[in-house]
Amino acid sequence: MEFQTVILGAGAAGLMCAAHAGPGVLLVDHARAPGEKIRISGGGRCNFTNMHATPENFLSQNPHFAKSALARYTQWDFIDLVDRHAIAWHEKTLGQLFCDGSAKQIVAMLLAELDRAGAGLWLNTSLRELRKTDDGFALDLDRDGARCRVSCRNLVLATGGKSIPKMGATGLAYDIARQFDLPLTETRPALVPLTFDNARFAALAGVALPARLSNARTSFDEALLFTHRGLSGPAILQLSSYWREGEEIRANLIPDLPLMDLLRAQRQSAGRRQLGTELARHLPARLVDHLATFLPLTGRLADQSDTALAALVDALADWVLTPSGSEGYRTAEVTLGGIDTSALSSRSMQARSVPGLYAIGEAVDVTGWLGGFNFQWAWSSGHAAGTAI
Ligand code: FDA
Repeated sequence: MEFQTVILGAGAAGLMCAAHAGPGVLLVDHARAPGEKIRISGGGRCNFTNMHATPENFLSQNPHFAKSALARYTQWDFIDLVDRHAIAWHEKTLGQLFCDGSAKQIVAMLLAELDRAGAGLWLNTSLRELRKTDDGFALDLDRDGARCRVSCRNLVLATGGKSIPKMGATGLAYDIARQFDLPLTETRPALVPLTFDNARFAALAGVALPARLSNARTSFDEALLFTHRGLSGPAILQLSSYWREGEEIRANLIPDLPLMDLLRAQRQSAGRRQLGTELARHLPARLVDHLATFLPLTGRLADQSDTALAALVDALADWVLTPSGSEGYRTAEVTLGGIDTSALSSRSMQARSVPGLYAIGEAVDVTGWLGGFNFQWAWSSGHAAGTAI
């Protein structure tokens, strides 16, 4: 069977690309349903974009690469699409937009766009072999257990990254990139909880608080969550994309709290109160118990000198921690790295050295922050390739 374009991967980027790639499009996926990550995203409500998305919210070896696609299909273009399909949405925090109802509405919207474009969708279909031909590509597919040969002029790699293998993530896009000698950058789990040895924070599991998490490269003010295995919550997920094994991270547990002033005032008015009791008015009590195992939190407020209070405030504002690792691809929201952007046109996502071969979405070395940025990259890069085809 002949097609103009075959798109491998019916996820966010592939569905978007198929809706714009003109006639003769076949979308192929080995899963039983399209857009599975969309369906489970954002706690079932899909954080489908971010109102404040700019190229600065993305990591890549070439920070300029994403600019063109993001500028030509913006968050406002996607919001328009969502509005045209009468899907109600709201801003949760920090510009993050979620469906009022269900993430399934976004999948249904993209499938309706796919139908409108007349594109075909083959699920339960995997690739057995791929060859370059004189005028395109020949694919040997396994469709519902039956062998099937397909040829096409354009081939789009949209099979995503390696995160959550249980959901069918594979390294297929990277394998095909290698087959065609496209360079890859190192891939690693990102937007992922960080782990610590010896169940260090197990007693704190479930404790959450606003914090500033930073390292030498960057800093994020968001919620910090203690887990049985270590640290999570938006602040840690964000920082994980900038963290490397063996490096320290720093936690400011009182980013917006004038704690020194508060402690001094209470020393005046409630000097007989225990220091630990006073701290537990500002921080979760279980966290204060944990901090008391290595900080001097005993004694009454009245017994604390300014120097002692200042040292305590400094320690709470700069808690230095060295994670032992991350939870890995099992729970990572995304894969950092991928197909090297130097091999692709930033306008069309086409491989410079292989005419007709395109790569979009998470498979490419462009990774967004937490907060709807990764879907925005999927929409923008899918649109860039689709309209170029
Ligand atoms: P995606 O992973 O969506 O699609 C790839 C498709 O290729 C899948 O359908 C897969 O089955 C198919 N495939 C893979 N290997 C194949 C093979 N060998 N043969 C055939 N088909 C194959 N982002 C965001 O912006 N807001 C959010 O709320 C969330 N929430 C979120 C929650 C969770 C739990 C995860 C894991 C991730 C998120 N993300 C997110 C990230 C977001 O889901 C991700 O960045 C996009 O889905 C990437 O879109 P792609 O189309 O590139 O890959």
